[in-house]
Amino acid sequence: MPAPDHPALGRRAVLALGGLCALALVGHTSVLPLLPPVWRQAGSAPLYLVGVAGALLLLLPALFAWAKRSAVSPRPWFLAHALAGAAGLVLVVVHAAGHWGRPPALLLLLAIALLLQGLRARTKTADKLAGLMASRPQAFEGEPDRTALAELLERKRGLLARLDAAAEEATFSPGPGHWLRRPGLTLAYQRLVRAEAELLGARRAAGLELSRWRQVHMIAGWLLFAGIVIHLVTVTFFAGYVAAGGDIHWWHLAAWGA
Ligand code: HEM
Repeated sequence: MPAPDHPALGRRAVLALGGLCALALVGHTSVLPLLPPVWRQAGSAPLYLVGVAGALLLLLPALFAWAKRSAVSPRPWFLAHALAGAAGLVLVVVHAAGHWGRPPALLLLLAIALLLQGLRARTKTADKLAGLMASRPQAFEGEPDRTALAELLERKRGLLARLDAAAEEATFSPGPGHWLRRPGLTLAYQRLVRAEAELLGARRAAGLELSRWRQVHMIAGWLLFAGIVIHLVTVTFFAGYVAAGGDIHWWHLAAWGA
């Protein structure tokens, strides 16, 4: 069984990344009132471009996560995934220019939650796993039933082959796509994951927690993606609605909803 992907970022690096982001956000909020008007209007040409760059960076992690799964060495991809997410967040906050009271600010909150959740999963849950690996005798309450386990793994692999032929049993967690396309199979797979955790005890339970974190992370990522698409469609086609009767000062194709 291939080893689960260990963090490419150590605890210190994760904290440094989170701290750097927080510093950038607080710094931007404090200097915002002093900036020229063009940097305080989300639809101005430079802030529009900053928004596009931020959105691209926020969408990149999904690609990197996919590359990470199929790569021989997942570490550089994980690192790229975390850095792109963090840089994207800083850019979209600059793009939003402090308009925290408007509906797209929900996307900002979602992006912040996603980053915090990702960083926390990498420190807390990965630490727990590492701790359990290091204290092997305490991690197992008795030896697991090897025959039952082998049978269970066999069934799990069989189900996975039907659910997602390209996936690796060791690193796979069902995503929203699996739940939508094959809900019955996905549920059956989740049941086996739980049964396996019960057989294996604490060490695998920590793995299960990590798998849950991953699922929440992926669902939040999909919501962010959907929200960005809605925002893009709104400002491009419903510019009249977004401007609420004011001046439409950004590139758009239609001003419906004025
Ligand atoms: C393709 C990328 C994007 C484009 C083209 C874009 C475009 C725009 C435009 C034209 C406005 C100005 C609306 C106005 O002045 O009322 C705006 C505002 C805003 N955008 Fe974006 N945006 C993009 C990505 C994002 C992303 C990824 C987020 C957050 C995660 C975001 C959050 C916001 C917020 C909070 C505002 C301020 C609210 C408002 O003024 O109505 N944008 N965006």
